Amino acid sequence: MKTGLVEAMTAAALLTLSSVGCSHLPGKPGFHPETLRPDQELGFAVLYKSNCSGCHGDNGLNGAALPLNNPVYLDWAGRKHLIQIIANGVPQSAMLAFGRSGGGLLTDEQVEHIVDGMIARWGKPGVLNNADPPDYAPMSKGDVTQGKAAFLIYCARCHGADGKGISPDGQQGDATGSIVDPTYLALITDQGLRDIVVSGLPGEGMPDWREDATGKSMTDQNVTDIVAWLASQRIPFPGQPFSTSR
Ligand code: HEC
Ligand code: HEC
Repeated sequence: MKTGLVEAMTAAALLTLSSVGCSHLPGKPGFHPETLRPDQELGFAVLYKSNCSGCHGDNGLNGAALPLNNPVYLDWAGRKHLIQIIANGVPQSAMLAFGRSGGGLLTDEQVEHIVDGMIARWGKPGVLNNADPPDYAPMSKGDVTQGKAAFLIYCARCHGADGKGISPDGQQGDATGSIVDPTYLALITDQGLRDIVVSGLPGEGMPDWREDATGKSMTDQNVTDIVAWLASQRIPFPGQPFSTSR
């Protein structure tokens, strides 16, 4: 698991708020009359850098949150859905609502520019042609026991049989940290886990749903069950000295 997730996200959220906040003070004269008002900025680079890169990384990679520079993720989630997420946020997560309707500071047009910019730069048209990915949203709650079994088939070789990670020596592949750590699970929703399991982590050596076991794609049910097994290890108050499973 990456360290400093909480810190990175808190810092980024504060930065986002403070960098946009001041210029909105009513009646405050602008220092730089040549600068665009924040709600008129439509350039992708500026919009992405000032609103998203703190958590999702420069160029959409290597941030604390989901890499957005992932053609499979972008195509799978789809433009319409991406707009909706960015405007309304992800409840119970650090992913804020950026659209005005959700209490954020970006106009509808700005949200669309961010999404179109991500698709133009980081998407790959047709990347999912002839592929039959699991549905974006799960169709059922998932079965924890079957999830544990599927985890052993599709994930254990890189994450260890218990999900606690493996060190680089001894096993093939990159080192992984724990994905069943309560602190990690507290910071990600079930959909966030599903995003990673289906679309993989480009640049980090984690394949998408097609390549997890040699020659065998995961089914929609496999993905749903694996997420259910991971989620069953969340505890209500991570960091507290007791652990009651939900
Ligand atoms: C304060 C940190 C933070 C900032 C700033 C932030 N995000 Fe996120 N974002 C997150 C987290 C955390 C998640 C994972 C939420 C979850 O667990 O489901 C996420 C998830 C997402 C997702 C995936 C949602 C899904 O379930 O499919 C998209 C797309 C996204 N963010 C886009 C953006 C864009 C674009 C911006 C800038 C306008 C942005 N985010 C700014 C933290 C942040
Ligand atoms: C070929 C190796 C490989 C396979 C197979 C694999 N992963 Fe990963 N996974 C990685 C690597 C490498 C990372 C990034 C390093 C890390 O975060 O520990 C990662 C990261 C993750 C993360 C994010 C951890 C974080 O800190 O952000 C989750 C969640 C995850 N994997 C779940 C799974 C699940 C569930 C499966 C099985 C469906 C799976 N992975 C299969 C290699 C793999």
